[in-house]
Amino acid sequence: MAFQIPRGTQDILPGEAEKWQIIEAKARDICRRYNYKEIRTPIFEQTELFARGVGDTTDIVQKEMYEFKDRGGRSLTLRPEGTAPVVRSYVAEKMHGWVEQPVKLYYTGPMFRYERPQSGRMRQFVQFGVEALGSADPAVDAEVMALAMDIYKELGLKQVRLVVNSLGDTASRNAHREALTAHFATRIEEFCEDCQTRLHKNPLRILDCKKDRDHELISTAPSILDYLNDESIAYFDDVKRYLDDMGLDYTVDSSLVRGLDYYNNTAFEIMLDGEGFGAITTLAGGGRYNGLVEDIGGPETPGIGFAMSFERLLMALEVQGIQLTDEAPLDAYITAIGDEAKAVVPKLLHGLRAAGVAADTDYTGKKMKAQMKAANRQGAKVVLLIGDEELKDNQVTLKDMETGDQQLVRLEEAPAKTSAWLKGE
Ligand code: HAM
Repeated sequence: MAFQIPRGTQDILPGEAEKWQIIEAKARDICRRYNYKEIRTPIFEQTELFARGVGDTTDIVQKEMYEFKDRGGRSLTLRPEGTAPVVRSYVAEKMHGWVEQPVKLYYTGPMFRYERPQSGRMRQFVQFGVEALGSADPAVDAEVMALAMDIYKELGLKQVRLVVNSLGDTASRNAHREALTAHFATRIEEFCEDCQTRLHKNPLRILDCKKDRDHELISTAPSILDYLNDESIAYFDDVKRYLDDMGLDYTVDSSLVRGLDYYNNTAFEIMLDGEGFGAITTLAGGGRYNGLVEDIGGPETPGIGFAMSFERLLMALEVQGIQLTDEAPLDAYITAIGDEAKAVVPKLLHGLRAAGVAADTDYTGKKMKAQMKAANRQGAKVVLLIGDEELKDNQVTLKDMETGDQQLVRLEEAPAKTSAWLKGE
């Protein structure tokens, strides 16, 4: 019986993995420029962290968590997202006491959600995200959005749109919440069971229900923008002004509510416009979460962040025909004919690699011609030939595959000579 890969997961093979390295390096480099430092947290956490952090009326917590009991009977969950774990760590490590504030962190790693797999929606996917904790300055909101947009722009992606909204502060949210409850209450029986529970617990969630999205009451629902108090309006204005100052284009969409409960004030998503990406067009999402640190047991601390998946980024690059890389070519390839010649190859290869040369040889007993073909296929710039003639004099022929130039060198000197040749010395 052949084993099958679990639904909603993928193997990333050579050829593809190099692309991952490039986008990861790009994201890390941008974080360096914005002064965000890496944090690594465990793949699983106490289940309660997500119930409390992400919100127990959200789809993530109700339907999508990979939850299990360990042998000690503890309820653990494979992380569905990175914000709650980062905040857990922030509280446990007392980062609010660090000298440099806000604490600016980034992370990358696999996340797990039991969703119905489709193009762009996996059960295991890799997020890259940032969190800035300890400042309520709207300039940080703009910085986080600029950082996110830079990743797409610098990789050459086009038709990327920043969509922003304000969910308001607690007072504004409460006013909006009452209006929503009143709006839906009269006809709530026309909605799905989940939405009926949401009506009193969390009516905002009705707005992004996947089942009821076409109900007319959704499009006529009261907009949060009409319920923002003066502070929330001023805050949102500042965020938008900073985006304008930085020359970042955006659109305001009052129906953007996000699928996680911890947001207030700024919420944003980055969308891909244009054809060919399938039903899912959201590349990244984030926002401000000023109450979350307190909810998780820490001191009152403002925070903002975003996350994107590399899977969706790669799909978008593919759709737009953006090539990230040619496969990394080999520097050198050793061809050896005869048992005696073969016997000196391991030492020579080891010497080449120690000299910084990417080198390989044939381990399958190919004939000379086939070995040369393999060297060519893998883009080797130099071939080191060892035959009986060379071996007699303890020598090896270096051949420049581009010019055809050849040179005989002593075996011991071959690594240093090859390395120098490759550098054009
Ligand atoms: P989220 O909107 O749930 O937010 O996910 C952020 C991004 O993760 C999405 O925009 C998408 O790129 C990717 N993503 C989510 N689910 C999947 C999936 N099943 N398959 C592939 N990609 C997926 C969060 O996770 C928040 N923690 C973001 C945040 C950070 N907010 C503040 N700080």
